[in-house]
Amino acid sequence: MSTFDPTTKTNRRGFLSATAATAGTLALARSVHGRGAAAPKALKMGVIGVGWYGMVDAMAALKVGGVEVTAVCDVDSEHLNAAADQLEKLQGKRPATYKLHAEMLKKADLDVVAIGSPPHWHALQLIDCIKHGLDVYEEKPLAYDIREGRAMADCVSKSDRIVQVGFQRRQSAAFKQAAAAVKAGKIGQLVQADVQIHHRAGTKDTTPQAPPAALDWDLWCGPAPKIPYSPQVGHKSWRLETTTGHGHLVDWGIHNVDATRMMLGLGMPNRITAAGGIYHLQGKITTPDTLTVHFDFDRLPVVWRHRLWGATEYNPEVNNGVFLYGDEGTIFVSDQKWVFVPTGKSAQREEHTAPADLGALHMANFLDCVRTRKQPDCQIEQGFQATATVQLAMIAYESASVVQWDSKTEQILHNPAAAKLLKREYRKPYVHPYQG
Ligand SMILES: NC(=O)c1ccc[n+]([C@@H]2O[C@H](COP(=O)([O-])OP(=O)(O)OC[C@H]3O[C@@H](n4cnc5c(N)ncnc54)[C@H](O)[C@@H]3O)[C@@H](O)[C@H]2O)c1
Repeated sequence: MSTFDPTTKTNRRGFLSATAATAGTLALARSVHGRGAAAPKALKMGVIGVGWYGMVDAMAALKVGGVEVTAVCDVDSEHLNAAADQLEKLQGKRPATYKLHAEMLKKADLDVVAIGSPPHWHALQLIDCIKHGLDVYEEKPLAYDIREGRAMADCVSKSDRIVQVGFQRRQSAAFKQAAAAVKAGKIGQLVQADVQIHHRAGTKDTTPQAPPAALDWDLWCGPAPKIPYSPQVGHKSWRLETTTGHGHLVDWGIHNVDATRMMLGLGMPNRITAAGGIYHLQGKITTPDTLTVHFDFDRLPVVWRHRLWGATEYNPEVNNGVFLYGDEGTIFVSDQKWVFVPTGKSAQREEHTAPADLGALHMANFLDCVRTRKQPDCQIEQGFQATATVQLAMIAYESASVVQWDSKTEQILHNPAAAKLLKREYRKPYVHPYQG
């Protein structure tokens, strides 16, 4: 058992001096804006889970600069070796490789860690990183269940560690400009927001079979139930599996739900209804391919919709984004663009584009905060609220009931069946981090 006390305020590394912090901030900013700069003292980064996005995050860190990936960890030896090869080519030094994150944290010399494992592993891994005194770039969704998220947020808030949650749309100028336009009254009174991502979900072979030799499937499942392996529930495809990714809204939709919370300064919803089902991908996936959720926030209703079977909108450009409906106009906003549609016939429709590398900006913000000890743009409490919001939608869907959420006590009211879903049993010998 670790003896680390997360309440101890310590500056672990010399790089946190004011001089280094300033140099680092400038260098990182210059690097992101493509002008190059003298490198600050390199931060040693470890990456847990080097599949798709763990490597995207590692690349973003190398693009920002001032980072060397010194260690990588994965339960699939093919992913591990491919990542080490790629990083060696890029940075000239091969990172050390580990199968177990606990071993990496014990043995590797690290300043920061990026966590790119699937969500059902996030809670245990983030808490272990904090116990080892490391700063963390934690991929979204924050956690698999709401009580894990609370345990993670509490652990981080009792420490002096910097944690950035991977909602990179918080760097989007388009979302920020749309928010400013709403605040300035451009659409009159904002009455409702609609959020959506429709897309055709690709599926793989669902036949239960032996996992690939390189993959330790028991370890991959970790605290989640050990379900039979098939390519459809393995690498990348886990997103639409109930026991791990928990579906499209929790996996991808969460980005636009979080961006809406950011734009409108929303906390968590207090009443959630959800309806949908698997109407087209029966036998392929275990989460809804068609879903509508009504989130009642204090200030307004936010409606989520998704279809995963290929139907596009009348204008496909709006398949992925957020509608902000006011009594005098509508704004549609997505990652890099926002459009104002006035209600009056004579008023002009406006289009604004704001291209940016959101992932690199979000990583730059994290690395800057590691050096300066400022708080990052997506602190863990925001990550918790965004994640818990979409998880409440899945609880409403799975319990086929209206869910009333009390944000102060973090309890589901008058609905024991739904409240049971706030925390799931861990598979032994793993121990759920929320004891309450
Ligand atoms: N911010 C974004 O836009 C964005 C986009 C895609 C994915 N993500 C997030 O990134 C994370 C990873 O998603 P992905 O698409 O890269 O999945 P993936 O399946 O491609 O990769 C996950 C990797 O983690 C490894 N892994 C599993 N259990 C592990 C463990 N206990 N220790 C170490 N490694 C382990 C797997 O073997 C695999 O290599 C998820 O949380 C996902 O939501 C974020």
